Amino acid sequence: MVGRHAAGPGPGDHRADPADLQGLHVRRGPRRDRPDLDAAVDLYIDILESLPRRLATTLVPFAIPGLAQRGRLREATATIDARIRTIADGTAAPPHYSLAEAVLREVERAGLPRDPELVRDFVLQLHFAGLTSVASTIVWSLLLLSLHPAQARQMLDQLHEAAGGRVPTPEDVKRLPYVEAVLNESIRLYPAAAWEFKRTLGPLDLGGHRLPEKSQLIVAPWVTQRSPRSFEDPLLFRPERFLGRADYDSGSFLPWGTGERSCIGKSLARNAFRSVVGGIVQRFRLDLVPDQHIEPHPGYLGTRVLPRPGVLVVLAAQDGDTERSAARVHGSVVGAVPGTGA
Ligand code: HEM
Repeated sequence: MVGRHAAGPGPGDHRADPADLQGLHVRRGPRRDRPDLDAAVDLYIDILESLPRRLATTLVPFAIPGLAQRGRLREATATIDARIRTIADGTAAPPHYSLAEAVLREVERAGLPRDPELVRDFVLQLHFAGLTSVASTIVWSLLLLSLHPAQARQMLDQLHEAAGGRVPTPEDVKRLPYVEAVLNESIRLYPAAAWEFKRTLGPLDLGGHRLPEKSQLIVAPWVTQRSPRSFEDPLLFRPERFLGRADYDSGSFLPWGTGERSCIGKSLARNAFRSVVGGIVQRFRLDLVPDQHIEPHPGYLGTRVLPRPGVLVVLAAQDGDTERSAARVHGSVVGAVPGTGA
């Protein structure tokens, strides 16, 4: 719904119907090419998102006998494969823009076989890893900013000073330390991957426990990033804690993972955050609809935590009065009134 006003509000157009911020999350942008491929990828993701949470511990849903959605997942996979094959063997005209085409080019450049299944896996991996992660981070940070007007004000002032109303670019990064801090604080409290699986490659001593080779571990940034051992007042939204430091290096701040398999999209995600959130905040006030109840809810194989049932806001032209965006909101999200409401 936010996109509806993207051209900028006109004079007098200061209030609009409440919009669901979650709309940012479910809408995956315009589809200009290959609707069949895009629809199949969307269907695939929708099915994964709708899987019961008790299945969250399996990362390979195809392998579960009797899974009701298996047939639909197979169909979606077949559609994706068929479409990618036509692009790979040249029977389909190259579309105006195509992630599959771009991946194919890179696969060739790397000297790998022009294998449609390899391309499909890359495309799905990029969709899974790169879309909802950024979207959920944007949604959480906008919600946190609406709930915390002083911090929103500080971010707005810095954006005006550094970008003067235009969408921030990667070159602006050094002049936007507070914006970076807001991103860090948002993914500290609401990491896009609340937990991840890891497996020990060899025997390991960990916190006084002896773990054998191939032990399955869960690393949970949701837990470590809210620990009072590493963060003072961990349940407060306080971007200032990140000022003057690029990252927390304590081993407990792990929103991008760590080691060889850490996020390869970190810079892209940071640029997207700076541009999208920086652009939105400079143009709009997102006034929370009072007395709504919002809870963090695990979705997307259980690892992506989303605000449910959504976040209702009213868009207004940005006039710097950030206090007006804050409202009494119920639930357990940071900044809400805990344990109250419906
Ligand atoms: C706010 C946004 C994002 C967050 C918080 C995030 C977080 C993560 C995390 C926690 C991991 C797992 C690291 C590990 O296992 O140690 C990961 C992996 C990955 N991410 Fe991201 N990510 C984001 C955006 C993106 C974007 C935009 C892309 C690409 C377009 C991307 C591509 C990947 C890929 C391909 C992997 C797997 C890397 C591997 O297995 O070697 N991510 N990300």
